[in-house]
Amino acid sequence: MQLTAAALASIRGGVSGAVAFEAVEPALRPGVQALGFQVLRWLGRAEALRRQLAKRTPPPAADALLCTALALAWDSALSPYEPFTLVDQAVEAAKRNPGTRAQASFVNACLRRFLREREELVAATEREPVAQWNHPRWWIERLRRDHPRDWQRVLSADNIQAPMTLRVNTRRSNVASYQAALAAAEMQAIPVAASGLQLLRARPVQELPGFVEGECSVQDAAAQLAAPLLLDGLRSAATDGAPLRVLDACAAPGGKTAHLLEVAGPDAIELMALEIDAVRSRRIDETLARLGMKAKVLVADAARPEQWWDGQLFDAILLDAPCTASGIVRRHPDVRWLRRESDTEQLALQQAMLLAALWPLVRPGGRLLYCTCSVFREEGAHQIDAFLAHNTDAGLLPSPGHLLPQSGGIARGVPDNALGDHDGFFYALLEKQPR
Ligand SMILES: C[S@@+](CC[C@H](N)C(=O)[O-])C[C@H]1O[C@@H](n2cnc3c(N)ncnc32)[C@H](O)[C@@H]1O
Repeated sequence: MQLTAAALASIRGGVSGAVAFEAVEPALRPGVQALGFQVLRWLGRAEALRRQLAKRTPPPAADALLCTALALAWDSALSPYEPFTLVDQAVEAAKRNPGTRAQASFVNACLRRFLREREELVAATEREPVAQWNHPRWWIERLRRDHPRDWQRVLSADNIQAPMTLRVNTRRSNVASYQAALAAAEMQAIPVAASGLQLLRARPVQELPGFVEGECSVQDAAAQLAAPLLLDGLRSAATDGAPLRVLDACAAPGGKTAHLLEVAGPDAIELMALEIDAVRSRRIDETLARLGMKAKVLVADAARPEQWWDGQLFDAILLDAPCTASGIVRRHPDVRWLRRESDTEQLALQQAMLLAALWPLVRPGGRLLYCTCSVFREEGAHQIDAFLAHNTDAGLLPSPGHLLPQSGGIARGVPDNALGDHDGFFYALLEKQPR
């Protein structure tokens, strides 16, 4: 409880969930992270309850402890332990920690009252949208505006843990044989997308058959659309059978880089992968090494081609642009609490700059696939509408557009659609008019 509350206090201070949980000693990390994710999914409710119990905000460490206990205990159907056990643990933690000892009796009084009056207190928070949906108010309003018919479904899906989805490396295996290998290891999985399998129960990657040898990768089903969308039916402009020249402009950790190589086959593609962050770029090398694949990986700013481009046009560019990550909150429940509304505008500007810088590098008749793991229209449909209005040599090929996150199908054992449960994504496939 104490470690989970400390992670929450760090995240509230602006630290990402990944960094906050990384600070926990390895043996305890999985348990602390699992509890922490649950706290982040119900934080809006917990904060509203805390306001009911104490009008003045307590010091940060005591407030984090109170909110952690309330997020875990507010609904006994979702609670990992009996609510009274959680309350006892929180009070013990408050007494033991010098940073909260002075507030231990206050924490005790608040939580005992919560146990006595739980139903009335929860009912009193029911009309607050942030408590009801567990997202910041600006986020709820933006979603309601962007997706008037689906916003509630999206918010509900966001609060359900995402399944573990694999992409079978079709250079080494196929979906049916890999599904059989999983079944032999007592792991049940359902086929999704063109070469994906969704596990009914998540497992550590080391337990997956042939993972170390590169037989599969972990990748969400919606993310698995990128490589086939960009490459299917595309021919190199060269008449001498030369490989396709492809650029993956924002590549780390390399999930889509590897998929491009798997879809095209290593001899049919000459792939350049850019990443602005040198530390993150090492993850592309690791991904490719595990899968036994090669690409030219460069640490570079995709928005400044004059620094890295050799002047030869590309047949295809994948622009998986930096974004708010508002489509992947099922996997990163901290994201909604860390983002500010102004981030969307800044990121949209960055996306527009990347699009403008990379479009001239596409050959006539070539393609650029723009994607983001965001559900906000400013980073998706509106971005592409503005681009098409300013670039008369660009046409939109059939594209999925906004894919909204889908949850719950795997729990029922039946995928709701060809992708099963998946993250929120946006895809627009642009073609440059042939001369
Ligand atoms: C959405 S992630 C890419 C995920 C990746 N395509 C995959 O499937 O594994 C966006 C990446 O773009 C990088 N990035 C941001 N701005 C960039 C720029 N101007 N040039 C190159 N990379 C950039 C970020 O550091 C981040 O690693």
